[in-house]
Amino acid sequence: MKRIIVLFISLTMMLCLSACSDSAASSETSSVQTESIDLQTASEEETLSANETDAIVPDNENINDPDETISENGSKILVAFFSRADENYGVGFIEKGNTHIIADMIAEEMNADTFEIVRVTPYPEAYNDCTDEAQEEKTANARPELTASVENFDGYDIIFLGYPNWWGDMPMPVYTFIESYDFSGKTVIPFCTHAGSGLSRTVQTLQDKLENAEVLDGFEIAGTTAQNNQNEAKEAVLSWLEKLDIVK
Ligand SMILES: Cc1cc2nc3c(=O)[nH]c(=O)nc-3n(C[C@H](O)[C@H](O)[C@H](O)COP(=O)(O)O)c2cc1C
Repeated sequence: MKRIIVLFISLTMMLCLSACSDSAASSETSSVQTESIDLQTASEEETLSANETDAIVPDNENINDPDETISENGSKILVAFFSRADENYGVGFIEKGNTHIIADMIAEEMNADTFEIVRVTPYPEAYNDCTDEAQEEKTANARPELTASVENFDGYDIIFLGYPNWWGDMPMPVYTFIESYDFSGKTVIPFCTHAGSGLSRTVQTLQDKLENAEVLDGFEIAGTTAQNNQNEAKEAVLSWLEKLDIVK
């Protein structure tokens, strides 16, 4: 009987020892697995947040900083335009010029920077006074002084260049603008608003003057449509942009 009791006690001790060692092993394994999952999760989170930061391009902070705004095809794009508010043909007194409206549509669609070409001396507010002064300036072949210049112009590959048709030509501040920079190797895409004359010969003029750039066919739209029918204008702008194979 004594032997049976001793045997029983030793068996119970052996069983207990083996159970303890199994449970220690399994809890070690599970703590290793947990650590490795935690690490993986952390590194995935880091990667995700890095990608998300890259994907967010704060539109308004990138004005004139071509290093930070990149279009869908990787080109850096600038929308430079001249436009005049105040009294204008067929639209009365306006807050924002017709060409300015089209420029903003292009910039939004292309994720581009914008630059407004502004003459140091403002043009008269009254339409007729303005047409007179503009005609004198054109006859004199003047190069009026501008208020600002583009920072790091060299950083842009594609320049959308917008202007109203003035006396069958570009306003003279646009001449000052194009003569202020080296356009070699750049693609220039003209666009224009008008009161019936379309682009006149402005695309040809730009091709002649910017001979080291590639000047594409231009886009034209009536100033009254840009100002008073912006849905129609936007449709026309988007359908034109889609056809430019350099863009998408
Ligand atoms: C000085 C001046 C000259 C203009 N000359 C013409 C012209 O020759 N042909 C034309 O179709 N429209 C002409 N217009 C009308 C403008 O091209 C049209 O109103 C344009 O949309 C104005 O754009 P903006 O508001 O961006 O300046 C002229 C307007 C001004 C102020």
